Amino acid sequence: MSETEAPGLGILIAPHRTLKARARAVTPDDMDRVRALAPRMFATMYKAPGIGLAAPQVDVGLRFAVVDLMPEDKPRPFTLIKPEILAVSEEWATREEGCLSLPGQYAEVSRPAQVRVGYHDLDGKRHEMDAEGLLAACLQHEIDHLNGVLFVDHLSVLKRNMILRRRAKEQKQKASE
Ligand code: NI
Repeated sequence: MSETEAPGLGILIAPHRTLKARARAVTPDDMDRVRALAPRMFATMYKAPGIGLAAPQVDVGLRFAVVDLMPEDKPRPFTLIKPEILAVSEEWATREEGCLSLPGQYAEVSRPAQVRVGYHDLDGKRHEMDAEGLLAACLQHEIDHLNGVLFVDHLSVLKRNMILRRRAKEQKQKASE
């Protein structure tokens, strides 16, 4: 089955217990489940559309995520199993982030500008990737999900409350329409 034909999965919306929990390591016994889930996670992510989706977002508490930044509008999918940040740059960068589990919410988030990430692929082969720009932010955002952290957790309480208030107001307006 191709990635785009695989049946989609439901995306959890915050707040949800699984989104706040630390996911556990993928073991060899989990690999059949991970191989079955990965194409469905890609299908869900492309349909949303988004550029990354971590297993906890589809209520699976395992340390893996799918990412595709679609450079030049061409698919370039990565499945990152047990991803870990090995090194970060001293330089930081700020960019606007959103999240499929926080629909309609966006905020400027500051993170290290460059990261080196180690991970395993679906064949169990280990890789290391040096990333900068959008990819660096995306990888850190997805690894955060595996630790129960959402992008709004990086914001000050003031900014986070401002976003949540705006969100509540929007929902109220929608309800009265
Ligand atoms: Ni997210």
